[in-house]
Amino acid sequence: MAQSQFAPSIFKEAVFFFRLPLILLVDMSKNWYFSPEKIVAQLEEDGALVAHVGDLSSFKLNQVAFEILQLLYEPQTLDGMVEQLCQTYDVDERECARFILPFLHELELAGWIVALAPDQNESSLHSRYLCLLKRALVNWIYPEHELQVNYLQSDRVARDRLTRSRYLRDISHVEAEKYAELLEKKRHGFVTVLSHTLIGLRRLNHLEYCARQIFAQGIPGDFFEAGVCQGGASIFLRALQVAFGEEQRKTWAADSFEGLPPATLPQDEGLDFTESNYPWLAFSQERVEEHFRRYELWSDHVRLVKGWFSETLPGLDCGLLSLLRLDADLYQSTMEVLTNLYDKVVPGGFVVVDDYGAFEACRLAIDDFRLERNIQAPLKWIDWSGVYWRKES
Ligand SMILES: C[S@@+](CC[C@H](N)C(=O)[O-])C[C@H]1O[C@@H](n2cnc3c(N)ncnc32)[C@H](O)[C@@H]1O
Repeated sequence: MAQSQFAPSIFKEAVFFFRLPLILLVDMSKNWYFSPEKIVAQLEEDGALVAHVGDLSSFKLNQVAFEILQLLYEPQTLDGMVEQLCQTYDVDERECARFILPFLHELELAGWIVALAPDQNESSLHSRYLCLLKRALVNWIYPEHELQVNYLQSDRVARDRLTRSRYLRDISHVEAEKYAELLEKKRHGFVTVLSHTLIGLRRLNHLEYCARQIFAQGIPGDFFEAGVCQGGASIFLRALQVAFGEEQRKTWAADSFEGLPPATLPQDEGLDFTESNYPWLAFSQERVEEHFRRYELWSDHVRLVKGWFSETLPGLDCGLLSLLRLDADLYQSTMEVLTNLYDKVVPGGFVVVDDYGAFEACRLAIDDFRLERNIQAPLKWIDWSGVYWRKES
């Protein structure tokens, strides 16, 4: 394993920090996103902080660099990063920006992150809107409701009204551990049922990253999600189009709107995600439309395609796609989506798969399809479950 010393000494010693000459011309208005290459920053056995990328290189890091890399797992604006670092380190915000920028440039040069200049019309309100929307979609805003529902359904409910209502009022403190666990689940896309999406903040952030690339690079085509459930990820795809003035593109969302089909292929053996087992995977078309309306994102540029993929996708006249999102769990469903829609994805377009790390069946379908079609574009991890690749020309 190649190893080199990578030591941005920012903040490490206050003296060093404040004496560095400020020679950099700082573009304070740039947005930074973590790169298509996977970054893994971790504590080694000998206690060293290291980072790895897709190839075998690895770098030793100081604590601050380690923290910066952790932040870069998610799309970040420079301002956002500075704000978060300044909460930990007692430094001036402008100084902080000047010192982390060279490090970010190094990472960009190494291909670990990409830097996207903001859209001309983009204000900080854009990212604030998207941030709030993501939090609403995963139910980060009122997460204690989920604990409250669980409590009320349990046999732990206090009989007297005052004790019960006190418990409910303070549940995020009383059940602090469960509460923290719930937030972690929402961050990482483990199922929490009472939210409009199951995919978690990291995968929503990654969709934002894809959309920004698509818009910035003028890649044509609509967005498509196959496997919609309550609609959250599709709603976010539409929001991205609207927020960046790209509402002439369409957002397609295909689902049976009655849950998953029974497994019929050997690759799906043992998987029964049908409504009787998983009622919360079966949301009606009307309900999903209603969810779009609640976010004020319903329009005739949103197309809900109702029915089994095997029946709806073969003849679907949906034109070119710049982003195809697969979230259908089974081998059969995943394969049906790829077989019918992959050729509609334009070069430079993104294919995003939700369940590669979560279900062996989905992983098999992706691997089989990529092998069959000799797809060489590298498959990259988004988080523990999601992967994506960019279609090459
Ligand atoms: C895990 S959920 C999707 C989660 C959603 N993307 C989100 O943001 O939370 C999987 C969805 O795929 C749909 N699905 C799976 N296989 C299907 C098929 N063959 N035809 C139609 N819909 C299917 C199910 O109805 C279900 O709503």
